[in-house]
Amino acid sequence: MSGNPYQEGRGNRDHSITNPKGTGTLQPSPGTRHPMSTANAFLIGDSMTAGYGKGPDILHDCTIAVDPGEIAVIVGPNGAGKSTAMKAVFGMLDMRQGSVRLDGEDITGLSPQDRVVKGMGFVPQTSNIFTSMTVQENLEMGAFIRRDDIRGTMEQVFDLFPILRDKRHQAAGELSGGQRQQVAVGRALMTQPKVLMLDEPTAGVSPIVMDELFDRIIEVARTGLPILMVEQNAKQALEIADTGYVLVQGRNAYSGTGKELLADPEVRKSFLGG
Ligand SMILES: Nc1ncnc2c1ncn2[C@@H]1O[C@H](COP(=O)(O)OP(=O)(O)OP(=O)(O)O)[C@@H](O)[C@H]1O
Ligand SMILES: [Mg+2]
Repeated sequence: MSGNPYQEGRGNRDHSITNPKGTGTLQPSPGTRHPMSTANAFLIGDSMTAGYGKGPDILHDCTIAVDPGEIAVIVGPNGAGKSTAMKAVFGMLDMRQGSVRLDGEDITGLSPQDRVVKGMGFVPQTSNIFTSMTVQENLEMGAFIRRDDIRGTMEQVFDLFPILRDKRHQAAGELSGGQRQQVAVGRALMTQPKVLMLDEPTAGVSPIVMDELFDRIIEVARTGLPILMVEQNAKQALEIADTGYVLVQGRNAYSGTGKELLADPEVRKSFLGG
């Protein structure tokens, strides 16, 4: 039991019925009219119900997933539970129902650090860099789990974000917002993850810098690294998304390909400004 009085007896909690074989199938969106399979997911938070501490459920049977080599985008209003869903997938809060699987392996019980070892790279929405440390030190910190030579990976990060090479001896806190986000993404790449999770990588940057960051994110995805990201720039993000999820009040409201969601009149009206 969740301990949430509002949740008692609501819906069907027998996941063998709603999720046969444990491979979630999301209900059809009004605009797409077909259920969405998550059977091919490389990383999936499947039918997650979770909250903070002893507090109420924030996520309600929420599923987010990313397929191999793809970009999946999570959008939705403020407070919808997007960050909570990312934190649940990364193991930062206790799940009350549901599971997390990485490349077919159930990792629901693992700590965040063990998930990093398994190949998850996570850039949280806030406090995602060490501001008093230099750019290079931030990248070195990112590689904390590695015992091998990290210089090659650091060069790859500098090739992806050349400005970071120029500023590598500068304190990260002195950088612009867009450059800080590059440090944060670069830090996550230093572990050579198998999947990258980004929570609002373009928060607080200008439209031009946003476009640049999206281009870099696409470039990373093209190397074959699956990317699961939360974005407040819903329209632009869905344009680059293979799969999109609209979360509302901790639930899956609409799911489909980026194209389908962009074409869905309901999604357009309610979440994309018409
Ligand atoms: N550390 C926390 N402890 C308790 N409740 C929290 C905590 N963080 C978030 N919440 C609550 O969980 C709900 C979802 O918040 P969350 O941060 O996941 O939303 P979000 O969709 O990421 O919003 P935003 O677009 O503003 O980033 C909100 O009601 C929020 O108050
Ligand atoms: Mg958030």
